[in-house]
Amino acid sequence: MALEGKNVILREQRPEDMQFLADLRNDLVTQAWSKTLPTDYTERMFLTQFEQREFSYDRDDGRFMIERKESGESIGYISYSGLEPRWNVTIGIMTAKKFWGTGAAVDALKVLLLFLFEELGVRVVRLWTHTGNPRAIGSAEKLGFKLSFRQRESIFKGGNLYDNVSMDLLREEYYALHPALEDKLPDL
Ligand SMILES: CC(C)(COP(=O)(O)OP(=O)(O)OC[C@H]1O[C@@H](n2cnc3c(N)ncnc32)[C@H](O)[C@@H]1OP(=O)(O)O)[C@@H](O)C(=O)NCCC(=O)NCCS
Repeated sequence: MALEGKNVILREQRPEDMQFLADLRNDLVTQAWSKTLPTDYTERMFLTQFEQREFSYDRDDGRFMIERKESGESIGYISYSGLEPRWNVTIGIMTAKKFWGTGAAVDALKVLLLFLFEELGVRVVRLWTHTGNPRAIGSAEKLGFKLSFRQRESIFKGGNLYDNVSMDLLREEYYALHPALEDKLPDL
């Protein structure tokens, strides 16, 4: 069964998703980092990246499409990477602009966080964004993420300088926010 939220599911990527992913990357509004420019990604580039992913039971990342439950429509992409088992992991998300403000991103992030804490047993989830991205900071704060550190004036985007921002959510903070869940992992 796919990972399931209130209104979204997180499912595996498929070849037919590649054009949608290229479109998200090619939109200056949805791609969050100037280091991913220029906006000339092709479906073929994404397909090559997709096909180069090898089978393994020992992976340190996960890549999911966010899909609207009721219509099957693609909303965006969510991932984790750099997993150090039972220790830490970094997440990323990108949703199409028409879904901003609908709650879909927070719904998807909730599903991923539940998976990371309850299934993978990580102690801390991290993310990166920048001060020119108040929606990313706002949605992370809604889920309990706190500012970890900022590197001043280290991101240039849209003609402006921004601070690079690292945010994190600790295991004990996550369980304190979700009293219905019980943390059954012993303390380190
Ligand atoms: C980041 C992203 C996934 C967030 O999804 P979203 O649907 O826009 O987020 P939400 O609307 O649920 O939450 C945004 C929160 O930020 C807050 N916020 C703060 N400043 C804001 C601003 N200037 N404009 C809009 N929202 C703002 C809002 O108040 C909102 O919280 P609320 O619902 O309590 O009001 C989406 O905007 C996106 O894909 N952006 C492009 C890619 C990206 O930036 N990825 C993240 C990099 S880590």
